[in-house]
Amino acid sequence: MDMKIYEYDAVIVGSGLAGLAAAKELTEAGKKTAIITKLHPLRSHSGAAQGGINAALHADDSTELHEFDTVKGSDYLADQDCVELMCSKAPETIRWAERMGATFSRDEEGNIAIRPFGGQSKPRACYAKDRTGLAVLQAIYEQADRAGIEVFDEWYAGDIIYEDGKVSGVVAYDIRDSKPAIFNAKVTMLATGGHGRAYRFNSNAHANTGDALSIVARHGLPLEDMEFVQFHPSGLGGSGVLISEAARGEGGRLFNSEGERFMRKYAPNAMELASRDVVSRAIMEEVRQGKGLGKDGQSVNIDLTHLDPEIILTRLPELRELAIAFQGQDMLKEPIHISATAHYSMGGIPTNINCEVRKSPTEMTEGLYAAGECSCVSVHGANRLGANSLLESLVFGRHAGENMVKKIDEGIELRPAKLSDADRMLAEMHKLKTSNGTETIPGIREELQIGMTKNAGVFRTKESLETQIEVIDDLLGRFDNIRIDDKSKTFNTDLQEAIELGHMLEFAKFIVDGALNREESRGGHFREDFPTRDDDKFLKHTYAYMDENYNMRHEWGEVVLGKFEPRERTY
Ligand code: FUM
Repeated sequence: MDMKIYEYDAVIVGSGLAGLAAAKELTEAGKKTAIITKLHPLRSHSGAAQGGINAALHADDSTELHEFDTVKGSDYLADQDCVELMCSKAPETIRWAERMGATFSRDEEGNIAIRPFGGQSKPRACYAKDRTGLAVLQAIYEQADRAGIEVFDEWYAGDIIYEDGKVSGVVAYDIRDSKPAIFNAKVTMLATGGHGRAYRFNSNAHANTGDALSIVARHGLPLEDMEFVQFHPSGLGGSGVLISEAARGEGGRLFNSEGERFMRKYAPNAMELASRDVVSRAIMEEVRQGKGLGKDGQSVNIDLTHLDPEIILTRLPELRELAIAFQGQDMLKEPIHISATAHYSMGGIPTNINCEVRKSPTEMTEGLYAAGECSCVSVHGANRLGANSLLESLVFGRHAGENMVKKIDEGIELRPAKLSDADRMLAEMHKLKTSNGTETIPGIREELQIGMTKNAGVFRTKESLETQIEVIDDLLGRFDNIRIDDKSKTFNTDLQEAIELGHMLEFAKFIVDGALNREESRGGHFREDFPTRDDDKFLKHTYAYMDENYNMRHEWGEVVLGKFEPRERTY
């Protein structure tokens, strides 16, 4: 077959903030770097982050307080060495982003403005109105472009080249014409973002199908803490589209159908600004008690009508537009319906503090790095604080870039790729494209999503999780019998969606199996049959492996503790 083999020092899959930040470091250090991405960089989901990016910038705040809030928010599962790295680099990272051109909103004195976010002892979310991710993404993309990064956009990375614990690039195909190519590299980085599309009700872009997770898992590598999925308290009632935590940060109040400001019962001190896991559970509990609103009774109200309209018009303009467009509700005039929506994945591809991917809790692969939402470093533990995600992507994206530069300078060699390295991806493409069965991609995807929301959502039990394992096993079997109608080579989105669906089915099994295995409640993982946290048994990271028959195996990894002893969490 006619197939090009490209050679690079570094190849990065994904062009959100983590991937771009790493690429910029590498390119500026003179390393030949390619980004492979199924979207144009400016369409990456980092651009959808609305509310802010945390940094202890003000005199009455401190890095240590930011660390404490992050560890407490994580329900003590975060690795504290990584949290320290992230929080201590936060102020410098904001200034760096600003130097790159990110247009942060300002306060009356002209300083970078900050707003309160959930679970924080002090307001520290720096923001650009309610389009923070987009403002930062645009600036970093411009500067990375200026540095000379090479971007293969609308290319789909289908496999890594992995042998004897070493990674030497990726295999990908051009979505325009289905032509495959090998990107042989000394170092490879995965930065493919989140995987919220496994849920019916979610805030994620269509592209967030977690491709890199199952790509590494298919090589027998583990995924970490996949059971911890974050449900954001405020997705628009009918669609799950994000209404930023900034709405609560600016003073939004939550009410049930009886007009009760119900957070008083669940978090009497922090109220609407408790951490996301606490607020989401409170909302869903109100709904379960029949105090929900909206057509299906699944929502509650967020009310901002008491605020000065100027606050909404100048700080939350996009949220207002979204609520009008999707629900016909104008937050200037009336409360809007929101509900908990699958938003973020705390778990992912395990890495050490240097962003090197682990092949077991204690051993590293060579030449493979990961950062951003697809990775688990782990700074978020069992629950991420709002506005720590953009921060993680920038801090660990740059850090991964610096560490890859170091690795290349130390003399890591390019292991030459062979044409046969593409066999696995080509076989997958061929099998799917020639599938003429009776099952449809949207049909299987919808059943997966509905089941995940119902059985592995905000509340979980042994029974619901076992049901969902059966659902996934059944769907994995039926996936072998799908039909792809489009047999063409040009922009074959049927084929791409089928590949993505295969990934979703596989990593969803990690989520559910991990949740079944973890017989406690911690952060975003709430087991009704084990409603309390159990540090004696489960202050541990889950490492899960899947074999080629989709059977799961687990081992536990140590949590890196530090200056903050696990305590009971109250808000
Ligand atoms: O609510 C938000 O603006 C989302 C921010 C985040 O997930 O960090």
